[in-house]
Amino acid sequence: MNIVVGGAQWGDEGKGKLIDILSKDTDITARYQGGNNAGHTVVVGEKQYVFHLIPSAILRKSKMCVIGNGVVIDPKALLAEVKILKNQGVSITPKRLKIAGNAHVILPYHRILDGLRESKRKNKIGTTGRGIGPCYADKVNRCGIRMIDLLNPRILKAKLEDNLREKNDVFRKVYDQKNFPFGNIYQEYLNYGRQLKPYICDTAIFLNNAIEKKKTVLFEGAQGAFLDIDFGTYPYVTSSNSIAGGVCAGTGVAPTHIHKMISAVKAYTTRVGEGPFPTEFSTQLKDDIRIKGKEFGATTGRPRRCGWFDSVLVKYAAMINGTTEIAIMKLDVLDDLKKIKVCTAYRYKGKIIKDFPLDLEVLRNVKPIYKTLDGWQTPISGIREYRNLPKNAKLYINYLEKLIGRKIKYVSIGSKRSEIIIR
Ligand code: IMO
Ligand code: MG
Repeated sequence: MNIVVGGAQWGDEGKGKLIDILSKDTDITARYQGGNNAGHTVVVGEKQYVFHLIPSAILRKSKMCVIGNGVVIDPKALLAEVKILKNQGVSITPKRLKIAGNAHVILPYHRILDGLRESKRKNKIGTTGRGIGPCYADKVNRCGIRMIDLLNPRILKAKLEDNLREKNDVFRKVYDQKNFPFGNIYQEYLNYGRQLKPYICDTAIFLNNAIEKKKTVLFEGAQGAFLDIDFGTYPYVTSSNSIAGGVCAGTGVAPTHIHKMISAVKAYTTRVGEGPFPTEFSTQLKDDIRIKGKEFGATTGRPRRCGWFDSVLVKYAAMINGTTEIAIMKLDVLDDLKKIKVCTAYRYKGKIIKDFPLDLEVLRNVKPIYKTLDGWQTPISGIREYRNLPKNAKLYINYLEKLIGRKIKYVSIGSKRSEIIIR
């Protein structure tokens, strides 16, 4: 079975942990979009690993990993990540990690432009500042630099010259900044190319050959459905298709090869950065859940905004993704609560809205309609069998299943690898 894992909220749903668990039974794990804006955390024993570009499955020695063409790669960040992971004892070799030659490269000017745009805009997006948006913009604008270009000094030189001429105009004339020196970037990126060369290949051929040989692939989504460039809360989104539909364009694996889609959801909701968030807490819970759930970004360290579970969002995400199963993560964070609320619909100007509204102005002004359930008020992290969960925890899960219309197959009850219940 080839399986897609994606987030059904605003990212940080616990995809890393889920990938770590599922990759035990698949051969290859592939990232298909996003870049080092992602932060996927895996805890094994006492050790914590944070992944930004490399699939979380790299921890399993016998498994292979792919960074697909839909990913935007900051080679400097990638090499730094490889170094950190190697220091943590993870084996990363060209045999185990394949990087798409046609993936686009994040250059220093992308990172700087990301920051400059944010600082100049009145309507800030709250990006991670990693240069993701400007890099994808160049890709679509047909002036991007791809990983294979780093292996060809002549091509890299020509493309960099063209790009720098244009970017430097923007730096000077729009943002009142200094020129970017060509020489430094050229040498620096040629050097990255030399280091990464053994990993770079046509990953579409690699993946399709593997599938032909009955190997199984797990596709690791980054971000979440509501950060998707098309279906998210635009413009407060990232610049790629994080939904399952992004897999095919982002890896070259056709839709006919995908068998299952697992959506990860947090037992509540979080969001980092700007944008509407109907169920956001306004009470003390805001801090309580943030602390209990350690809700600080794995990439930027920013505090995450927290709120109740919003079934209007997740139902829409399940539809867009063709979700076959749900994994509910961090259920244990709700252990202490006396009452737990779930958003079942919105109220807007006296009307009840059951579907996710396209118009952000509507989403910004809706009032969530809540159903209140009793909490279980007992620690659940030690439980390993579904039937041993407290009755109210099971009622919560059943209620969410009914609202979303999908089976909740995985229940995560702690950050450790072992803290998961599979039904
Ligand atoms: P993972 O994979 C949560 C958010 C940023 C910002 C918006 C655009 O860990 O779930 P960008 O830098 O992509 O242009 O920022 O998207 N964002 C994430 N939020 N988890 C992520 O990844 C995110 N990646 C980007 O905070 O609001
Ligand atoms: Mg994250």
